[in-house]
Amino acid sequence: MSTEHGANGGAVPAHVAIIMDGNGRWARARGLPRHAGHSAGVRPVRQCVEQAARRGVKVLTLFAFSSENWRRPREEVSRLMTLFLEALDRELDELHANRVRLRFIGERERLAPALQQRLSAAEMRTRENTGLVLVVAAAYGGQWDMVQAARGLAQRVARGELSPEAIDQAVFEDQRALAGLPGVDLLIRTGGEQRISNFLLWDLAYAELYFTPRLWPAFTTGDFDAALAEFAARRRRFGRTDEQLQADALPQVTEASR
Ligand code: FPP
Repeated sequence: MSTEHGANGGAVPAHVAIIMDGNGRWARARGLPRHAGHSAGVRPVRQCVEQAARRGVKVLTLFAFSSENWRRPREEVSRLMTLFLEALDRELDELHANRVRLRFIGERERLAPALQQRLSAAEMRTRENTGLVLVVAAAYGGQWDMVQAARGLAQRVARGELSPEAIDQAVFEDQRALAGLPGVDLLIRTGGEQRISNFLLWDLAYAELYFTPRLWPAFTTGDFDAALAEFAARRRRFGRTDEQLQADALPQVTEASR
């Protein structure tokens, strides 16, 4: 519940999440190997980060690699990991210069040690930045996230730091991978499929869903703006009635109340 203006007229979503799908099909349509599609997917990542910052989005979360993607051929997984490392090495200085704060979510221990080390270093380096928060989900699954949150709470209970009765929505939210960040306002999925695919589950509770057939490597800043325009035109009721909204009954949601 984190739009800037409560009711949706012209609102910019505070948190946009993207499932970047269609790299393989984009490559196949050009007679190229799948990894060429992933490489071509880096440019729209860069463009969306820039456009999100320009449009006043506060948090951009990208689904780079899912828990299920480990099932892909070893060669493809290995090339994807190399691509992430190279993109991070190449872009980090500029991201930092533009005050972007990086955060990585997922089962880090499953990633190569060199990549884990670079992710932590990038988070450390950018942790004081006050611009766009760029979250990259790698080796991430929404179900894994719920399980790690439950385990974390159980450990705190076992240590005597928390009583089971004290576990409420806010306590659970603090244990999410995205702890401290607002829920997702707008989910964009490219590539034509209309499903969540075990991406953020808790965090998508009130998200507006936007599906486009555009394949990820062909996604442009214009496409990003079209998704924002569609979001601005939607009516978000958060469980209330249209009449309540018309009476402007929806309280202004402030940073502090999120
Ligand atoms: C899904 O397309 C895409 C992925 C599994 C990888 C996403 C990676 C990138 C966009 C590379 C750049 C990312 C960063 C963070 C630098 P798919 O292979 O499932 O496509 P298909 O459905 O057409 O087979």
